[in-house]
Amino acid sequence: MGKDVIIACDFDSAAKTFAFLDLFEGLARKPFVKIGMELYYAEGPSIVREIKRRGHKIFLDLKLHDIPNTVKKSMAVLSRLDVDMTNLHAAGTVSMMQAALEGLTREDGTRPLLIAVTQLTSTDQERMEKDLLIREPIDKVVLHYAKNAAVAGLDGVVCSPLEAGKVHDTCGAGFLTVTPGVRFADGDVGDQKRVMTPAAAKEIGSDYIVVGRPITAADDPVAAYERCCKEFID
Ligand code: C5P
Repeated sequence: MGKDVIIACDFDSAAKTFAFLDLFEGLARKPFVKIGMELYYAEGPSIVREIKRRGHKIFLDLKLHDIPNTVKKSMAVLSRLDVDMTNLHAAGTVSMMQAALEGLTREDGTRPLLIAVTQLTSTDQERMEKDLLIREPIDKVVLHYAKNAAVAGLDGVVCSPLEAGKVHDTCGAGFLTVTPGVRFADGDVGDQKRVMTPAAAKEIGSDYIVVGRPITAADDPVAAYERCCKEFID
């Protein structure tokens, strides 16, 4: 899969999601869609099947983190939903990530892409030190978790676009960087602290950008999506 713009469909119902996706019907490029916890917990697996049936690629963003056996069995269930990409927390350890890959791999050897969350962007140095007792610099922790994900055989990490270059330097150009925190130069930043434009994310080498409110809350979501694609892909 090449570079793509993934729209974060952070809605709390199927009705709102389909009203939004209907806007994109008939477009030459079918948007890659991210289904997060909010929508998945509201609607269950049927929302995944229905969005897939409409022809969209799907990133199922459920960030699994549990004992290896539980994650392995859960990944086997998610794999049957035929999503294109899913994820887990690298903090679950290398053995949890390896178990996840095993669970995700179908009998014919195919599987969705598996991406690790390193440190959430909501965790800063102070909280990491005080709450988690991790005393290394956060950049080092992020790269260490990325390396663990690569060692476990995962396909890449979710990271800030500001970290994408370093992740590629450390884990290889083929190791995918999926980057949220994207904003247009003339747009609202909202609650995202460290942001980058789609064009800058392309420049720094992000493989996928995850864009929510700049598209979902735009007056013209289709125009906002096309602007993202123009800056990031074309
Ligand atoms: O609306 P916005 O563009 O900020 O949405 C970004 C999406 O990426 C949300 O679904 C958010 O949960 C997700 N995300 C993030 N930062 C991370 C991991 C995921 O913003 N570190």
